[in-house]
Amino acid sequence: MPRPWDVMDAEQLRQYLEFYQDLGIKTLFRRAAAGVSAAAEAPVSIAPAVSTAPMELPPLAPSGDTLLKIIEDMGDCRRCRLHEGRNKLVFGVGHEKAPLVFVGEGPGADEDAQGIPFVGRAGQLLTQMIEGTAKKEGIALTRADVYICNVVKCRPPENRTPEADEMETCGQFLYRQLSAIQPKAICALGGTAARAVTGHKEGVTKMRGKWFKWRDIPVMVTYHPSYLLRPYNENAKREAWEDLKKVLHFVYD
Ligand code: URA
Repeated sequence: MPRPWDVMDAEQLRQYLEFYQDLGIKTLFRRAAAGVSAAAEAPVSIAPAVSTAPMELPPLAPSGDTLLKIIEDMGDCRRCRLHEGRNKLVFGVGHEKAPLVFVGEGPGADEDAQGIPFVGRAGQLLTQMIEGTAKKEGIALTRADVYICNVVKCRPPENRTPEADEMETCGQFLYRQLSAIQPKAICALGGTAARAVTGHKEGVTKMRGKWFKWRDIPVMVTYHPSYLLRPYNENAKREAWEDLKKVLHFVYD
């Protein structure tokens, strides 16, 4: 089988490695030459410089990737510590070819029990926000027409914010979901999702209402519905409705 560096020019190889960086993969492993023990395999960092040493790269972003294939690859995932407290892995719900994807932070107790994202109180608010805003704006849309998922697929203990390594490990599956769906836009709910999807590090108050990009796909950032459930957040609620209007018109007009 030809090796990637035999068939790619420098620019193609750069893009190929950049794709792996997008997936959160920072290290590739050289296949040991015959007679060399696996322990002698050297990790090769792909950030920031591109190594010119021969590397055996895993297949590129599974072309023809599907949600089903991604679920199969996740399997009974034990790649990070979050699996320890999990009841159900919460992969995502909705239309495989949805033009709009909502990304939250991670499952809560209700989601962990049912294996479906955004089914608890925050989820009910999200459904109301999607369907209520669409109706007011004259857009025929129900929750079932969009896709909803999270940055991490297992519930963090006590609903704590996922840690960087957990987001990095699980993020590769989020990115594959987004790549497979190829929505017209993504809506990031809350700071954790916004940072994971856009790579920007500001807080959600600075980022909300603005367009960013994930690869070539426009990303709108807004508040997380759990934040909107807290009392005294009337202003934030109004802003979230504005953000949602923007993204719905962008996608469905
Ligand atoms: N909060 C999230 O971020 N995701 C869910 O699925 C539920 C609550």
